[in-house]
Amino acid sequence: MYSQKVMEHFRNPRNVGEIPDADGEGTVGNPICGDLMTLYIKIKDEKLEDIKFKTFGCAAAISTSSMITELAKGKSIEEAVKITRNDVADALEGLPPIKMHCSNLAADALRAAIYDYLSRKMKLSGEEIMSRYGLAPPKHDDDHESH
Ligand code: FES
Repeated sequence: MYSQKVMEHFRNPRNVGEIPDADGEGTVGNPICGDLMTLYIKIKDEKLEDIKFKTFGCAAAISTSSMITELAKGKSIEEAVKITRNDVADALEGLPPIKMHCSNLAADALRAAIYDYLSRKMKLSGEEIMSRYGLAPPKHDDDHESH
């Protein structure tokens, strides 16, 4: 059910690991299956100089994580925040429809890591981040568990 490209990234994921002195870090959980992804970024001259991920998830989650690191590496912050889950799925030559939710993890974790960098390192307010980059604060999916 998976494309060759998905299987290839699943077997041989790129940019796996952590960046200990990361400039930004984003962790996102998938509310549907409970899988988890953390993405680390290193920024230089407003560009994503390095990016790594740790993912506990299915084959689609691992492949989309791997692919998003390839798509985002070297991009400017403005370009990186525009990467959508569809871009990731397209680059992987498609994901089965029931696996599309898995690709949310990668795109959301990237945006969460960038948000972390902009707010924590650059000390920008939520409003500034929204007006400059069109980026909203990361959602916390476990919020609804308490209701
Ligand atoms: S089933 Fe959990 S991320 Fe795919």
